[in-house]
Amino acid sequence: MSRSKIGIVGAGAVGTSTAFACLSSGVAREVALYDLNADKVRAEFLDVAHGSMFFEPSSVRGSDDLEVLRDSDIVVVTAGAKPKLGQSRLDVAAINVQILHQIIPQVLKVAPDAIFLLVTNPCDVLTVVAQEVSGLPRERVISAGTLLDTARLRWLLAHRAGGVAESSVHAHVIGEHGDTSFPLWSQASIGPVPVSEFTLPDGTRPFAPESQAAIAQEVREAGWSIVETKGTTNTAIGLASARIARAILRDERVVLPLSIVLEGEWGLRDVALSVPTIVGHRGIEQVLELSVTDEERAALDHSAETIRASVAAIH
Ligand code: LAC
Repeated sequence: MSRSKIGIVGAGAVGTSTAFACLSSGVAREVALYDLNADKVRAEFLDVAHGSMFFEPSSVRGSDDLEVLRDSDIVVVTAGAKPKLGQSRLDVAAINVQILHQIIPQVLKVAPDAIFLLVTNPCDVLTVVAQEVSGLPRERVISAGTLLDTARLRWLLAHRAGGVAESSVHAHVIGEHGDTSFPLWSQASIGPVPVSEFTLPDGTRPFAPESQAAIAQEVREAGWSIVETKGTTNTAIGLASARIARAILRDERVVLPLSIVLEGEWGLRDVALSVPTIVGHRGIEQVLELSVTDEERAALDHSAETIRASVAAIH
């Protein structure tokens, strides 16, 4: 792989998990961690660097000096306040928007050609703000959005389908990465079998329409059940971020549900939320649209209105 560098803003659990996932999967030649807390970022980068002999040839650095991010191809933004149990991700929008206003202009000075990947929540609201603050084309200011929710759904469906390979579970969660996300049940299948028709050897249908609402709610609550015990989620979101970085750096043109500011697609403007997209070297190469049910259309509009209201509240 030619020179490729991933910068990560924030050396908390999500940032360090992202660094580890990028290095262990050989996504980039260089990973740089930045954090305001010099001691923290030094400890975290060293803890990853000490594993270097087990990674593909690469280098990892960490500093409280933004210079460490110089010439990053991708900058993953993980810094910010996390919602507490009982809060919504939208409840930390105001404080995290302030961080974006401070950090983005500074990062652009050292990494003017970077693609920004927003992970900090509420990631859809922050994607709208980051695109405004940076003035970059929308395809270069994107968010992991519902990719993590999609991974959670596929894991759950694979498990309930009797241990089917996740590569044969075709399902997407779209909309807000939050309380209004929803699976595109009309498009979900196990191999070529629509999930509503999938039948276990005992004749039961684990994904019949009457079961789908509960499964969707279980996916929406999946992160909170982890935060309740360990205080945060970090491993799967780190892997999701590394997966997006790989798609960009290798120009894979893979379809992933990511969040981007829509410019008329799905009949929506001035809002960022996750829909199926083609991901390549420019960031999001294309936003995909498809026919959905009236219920799914209404759910997407509900997501859009929820995010728009949060954006309006912080402007
Ligand atoms: C979660 C965080 C990343 O869903 O929003 O785990």
